[in-house]
Amino acid sequence: MNRADIETAASAVGCAEDFHRWYYDTGVWESVRFLGVPCLKSVLDLWNYQEIIHQLRPGLIVEFGTRHGGSALYFALIARQVRPDALVLTVDIEDHLLDPRVPATPGIEFIKSSSVDAAVGARIAALRKQLPGPVFAILDSDHRQPHVLQEMLSLRALMQAGDYLVVEDGNINGHPVLPGWGPGPLEAIMEYNRRFPDDYERDLDRERKFGFTFAPMGFLRRR
Ligand SMILES: C[S@@+](CC[C@H](N)C(=O)[O-])C[C@H]1O[C@@H](n2cnc3c(N)ncnc32)[C@H](O)[C@@H]1O
Repeated sequence: MNRADIETAASAVGCAEDFHRWYYDTGVWESVRFLGVPCLKSVLDLWNYQEIIHQLRPGLIVEFGTRHGGSALYFALIARQVRPDALVLTVDIEDHLLDPRVPATPGIEFIKSSSVDAAVGARIAALRKQLPGPVFAILDSDHRQPHVLQEMLSLRALMQAGDYLVVEDGNINGHPVLPGWGPGPLEAIMEYNRRFPDDYERDLDRERKFGFTFAPMGFLRRR
């Protein structure tokens, strides 16, 4: 790379970070809809998820944090195009905002529970047996570090080589949005990696593909 190339690359990174802050700070992510259902994400991450589902062909998708259900609906409709028996297990501690179309959609199972409840782990283990093939898990519930770490630990015995995990919202606490929020998902990933450095491989290509992600350090392939 010559000097001009380096300056161009640095400028592109700066632009991507500005766009990330604008997208987050102005609340664009809160206005995203999938088939009319709120889906609280970066649309760039959603496109990465579509590509991951197509490549991985998971039998089971596990989502912690359902909210309105737009993301569960998105995962299920795409997964069933790729694999007609695929199931999305989506878990939320509350359901007052859940769009009724979501649990009524074939291929979606909703559980009202804390994501770290033992019954959730038992259901994942049972579904994994019924639906051979890889698991794709997305963590998007309580973003505080202790909870995210607990979720990662609860999935440890359930995830197998070749599975894929996304730990969302590591962008908060100043990475680069919401400085001062306090330890969140990115800090949980760092703590998990400190304890179990060989469990996951970071998928940097996915993180970088569209310029920015809400899940820095959070695209992880189980080894
Ligand atoms: C950011 S929202 C999920 C958004 C959704 N995945 C989407 O993309 O549209 C976070 C959700 O996590 C739920 N939540 C908070 N603590 C939880 C816990 N301990 N277990 C499961 N869900 C929890 C909240 O009720 C909330 O609905």
